[in-house]
Amino acid sequence: MNCKVDEDVAAEALRRIEELALCSDSLPSITRLFETPAMNRARETLQEWFLDAGLEISVDQVGNLIGRWPESSGGAGTLAIGSHFDTVPDAGKYDGVAGIVLGLAAVTQIRREGLTLPFNLEIVAFAEEEGTRFQSGYLGSTCYGGIFDAALLDRMDEQEITLRDVLTARGTDCDRWIKEQQPRKDLLAYLEAHIEQGPVLEHKAMHLGVVTGIAGQSRAIITFTGMAGHAGTTPMQMRRDALTGAAAFITEAETLATRTEGLVATVGTLSILPGATNVIPGHASLTLDLRHGKDEVRHKAIRHLKEFSEDLAHNRNLDLEWRGTHDSPAVRCDASIQTELCAIVRDLQGEAPELASGAGHDAVPLSAVAPVGMLFIRCKDGLSHHPGEYASPEDLRTGITALTEFLRRRAV
Ligand code: GLV
Ligand code: MN
Ligand code: MN
Repeated sequence: MNCKVDEDVAAEALRRIEELALCSDSLPSITRLFETPAMNRARETLQEWFLDAGLEISVDQVGNLIGRWPESSGGAGTLAIGSHFDTVPDAGKYDGVAGIVLGLAAVTQIRREGLTLPFNLEIVAFAEEEGTRFQSGYLGSTCYGGIFDAALLDRMDEQEITLRDVLTARGTDCDRWIKEQQPRKDLLAYLEAHIEQGPVLEHKAMHLGVVTGIAGQSRAIITFTGMAGHAGTTPMQMRRDALTGAAAFITEAETLATRTEGLVATVGTLSILPGATNVIPGHASLTLDLRHGKDEVRHKAIRHLKEFSEDLAHNRNLDLEWRGTHDSPAVRCDASIQTELCAIVRDLQGEAPELASGAGHDAVPLSAVAPVGMLFIRCKDGLSHHPGEYASPEDLRTGITALTEFLRRRAV
């Protein structure tokens, strides 16, 4: 079996990951939030590479970049390969962009080999997955899948700019788009390569793994409001300290997750007002991110934390606002794609570790309109959402080889 990829194709992909890391609004660190100057630069850069690869390009309503293989077969449906090019603040180089660049390398390789595919092929660079700017992720893949949630258009970012305003400024007629959108029926499958973002492959000393499913997620903004007051003169019994209420809630979320097998809970942001050493905090607002592989466990945990926060607010004489911002179900990857990926990975490294993803991916919403499959690439110390994120050239090359082989096996 020819299981190789040309050296220069792989080398170019690795170089491209480095180049995209320079498209950042916080250099030398990487921050590329949705619809920001850094994102526009990254899209322009990707666009050139898509054109170099001979793809026909288009940009859709939310700014996804789509590259279509021109010699595709027209009527037989579309295989999509992709990932996202937004990042969290102070991100690593690989989360998201590796999947786009590796997919592009695989296409470059099969085009070079003169292979023909019996279906349409699209490489997709999703404009938003992380949910950082508007507190809800998958804006890119839900648009691509024709299943965008119109209610999100009224969401505001921290500057109180709505998503509708942001998209209108980029030329999108939001009302027309939403009226006309239809769930995609032509997607044969969605395939994504992504760094593992966890330690399993490193422990197993394996380049690649095959994803079995992706955990469900609930996110919320929880705000406690009490009364600001003088730190020296207000007796402890008379305080309505919003921050100590928030602290009790955060501790309960951690305790619950620690005691519940497989549950993870994170409070990633906390803002307190008015924010002075000698003023009792009158306002504390935090974000909760809660995940589990089983939706019933996640829903039960959310119910518990809601009840806990209501009791806590009552006992501490605080007002409470709980605003759910994102909810996505646990999904299973398609069994036959999984089997096929396992066969390829076994051929490449002798064994095919199968693992569940705790991180969210564009495959989650797209699983509603297509069978989905994912390959994981080993990353150092399982570290991700951190500037120290690292995947080795050898592991990334093996990822390109696996994607290429997936296409070769479908070529006619
Ligand atoms: C995306 O990286 C997520 O799982 O939050
Ligand atoms: Mn991420
Ligand atoms: Mn990602």
